[in-house]
Amino acid sequence: MTKLLLRALAGETLPTPPIWMMRQAGRYLPEYRATRAQAGDFLSLCYNPDLAAEVTLQPIRRFGFDAAILFADILLVPQALGADLWFVTGEGPRLSTIGDAAGVAALRPADRVHDTLAAVYETLRILARELPRDTALIGFAGAPWTVATYMIAGRGTPDQAPAHAFKTADRPAFAALIDRITEATIHYLSAQIEAGAEVVKLFDSWAGSLKGQDFDDFAVAPARRIIAALKQRHPGVPVIAFPREAGDRYVGFAATTGADCVAIDNSVDAAWVAAHVQPDGCVQGNLDPRHMVDGGPGLVAEAQRITRALRGGPHVFNLGHGITPDADPDNVARMIDAVRSA
Ligand code: CP3
Repeated sequence: MTKLLLRALAGETLPTPPIWMMRQAGRYLPEYRATRAQAGDFLSLCYNPDLAAEVTLQPIRRFGFDAAILFADILLVPQALGADLWFVTGEGPRLSTIGDAAGVAALRPADRVHDTLAAVYETLRILARELPRDTALIGFAGAPWTVATYMIAGRGTPDQAPAHAFKTADRPAFAALIDRITEATIHYLSAQIEAGAEVVKLFDSWAGSLKGQDFDDFAVAPARRIIAALKQRHPGVPVIAFPREAGDRYVGFAATTGADCVAIDNSVDAAWVAAHVQPDGCVQGNLDPRHMVDGGPGLVAEAQRITRALRGGPHVFNLGHGITPDADPDNVARMIDAVRSA
């Protein structure tokens, strides 16, 4: 096994961690903005395999990351389940909403998602052919809770209040929605692996707003079910789980879900992660994306502090969340140098 990312995910402690960035193909890159303009809009880009593969490759050509992440979006799954989806420039996603058990029952069957998502599999097949030999290919999906928050509210919400309200008003209907998304995600990620993804990542961006039993039922249990199904169908393909802002609940998350790696946001300290999360296995993330805007000595110091804190075990260098459109591409190169010289 030569790809650094696969070695780290298999539990190997490496002298230099593999490096990639969440949202590494994105608006901070002029070449991304040009291809996006060519595609028309964001969703047209997601469903155009040649252009989606092109923007996936752009940050690899520019920075030589150790991994490429498929260019797509977590909200393609709701669309494949029958929701209307559009993006409002400068604001974000909008979806038709689900408010009750009848809305959940009206969704398409989970195994029909391939009708809508076939173009995504084609993007992966192109990437599997075109990526450099040492670059690992990552597929992904949203975790059921995070996807459900968008399907219920019809948009991003700061506190996920509509989804919490639905969960309180009709817990069985809410659980049925989580189940439908869980099953769709198993079909989707399994097809991504068959198309060439070597690693898959589950993004639970809003996991931090689930507490106590809700965290167990709607963050841990769906992830465990998805990971178990994938491991059965595709033994040996590693899974990264990202229960963002899980705080104390990062501890033991890999063990209870079966994830090979836990991705960590930037609200916890790297030394704490080394002591409490890394003993369970590989960890990824933690650099505040703000450093990619600010740059300077702060970027170098923090990238090196994280690298050194996590050097004692398996580690994948990444940000704690996606790189922002106002980031300076030169800071990405500085970050990579800082990590490799730490
Ligand atoms: O990381 C990558 O480079 C791979 C592609 C990827 C995108 N979105 C492309 C994208 C991935 C893995 C995602 C995940 C995603 N999408 C998440 C989970 C991770 C996270 O950020 O918390 C969520 C919640 C979404 C939903 C979504 N997509 C939102 C809320 C938005 C609008 C906010 C924003 O950043 O603009 C998007 C749009 C989106 N997804 C863009 C990109 C590059 C920007 C679209 C554009 O070009 O205008």
